[in-house]
Amino acid sequence: MQDVPFDQARFRQALGRFATGVAVVTGLAPDGTRLGITVSSFNSVSLVPPLILFSIACRANSFPAWQAAQHYAVNILSEAQEALSDRFARPLPDKWDGVETIAGRRGLPILQGALAVLECEAHARHDGGDHEIFVGRVEELLIGGAPGRPLVFFSGRYRRLTADGEAHVAPSDSLFPRIW
Ligand SMILES: Cc1cc2nc3c(=O)[nH]c(=O)nc-3n(C[C@H](O)[C@H](O)[C@H](O)COP(=O)(O)O)c2cc1C
Repeated sequence: MQDVPFDQARFRQALGRFATGVAVVTGLAPDGTRLGITVSSFNSVSLVPPLILFSIACRANSFPAWQAAQHYAVNILSEAQEALSDRFARPLPDKWDGVETIAGRRGLPILQGALAVLECEAHARHDGGDHEIFVGRVEELLIGGAPGRPLVFFSGRYRRLTADGEAHVAPSDSLFPRIW
């Protein structure tokens, strides 16, 4: 990193303090090969129209295939799907071996057991430095029956929420904690 007063390790450390869920974006290459990549960069963008985003590293093996994809599905992982997250976070040729899927509305591979799935049409792509930002327009939703618990990623590790309903409530005087 150039011309910035911090090194990349500290930048990563700071970004890691933002807890996220984990999703696997799935799709099909033009030749019909299944695509899948683990992302923590998923986020909501717009309600009307219904837009979401995620970013993909330009150096990812599958990057050109994602650029060409007209449709993709964001599969939001449950805490029981940590192994799937690991599997789709490795540049392996056999990522899909033994993975249970159902066919989405446009024939996209959808992961069994996901908490929710957002099937999207590619809407826009934007420059994001060494990543590209993909904006998808949601065409279809699949929402699991029971709410389930999400897989959480925080400070470089997978985490689990404690029991349902035990969310921590900060005392009012810690709304603006002195972290510096
Ligand atoms: C929890 C987690 C979150 C990740 N989030 C992203 C992400 O948002 N964008 C990205 O490009 N890679 C992300 N990665 C890394 C990719 O999943 C990984 O580099 C993947 O192997 C790239 O796929 P490919 O090179 O096989 O195409 C993440 C990995 C993990 C474990």
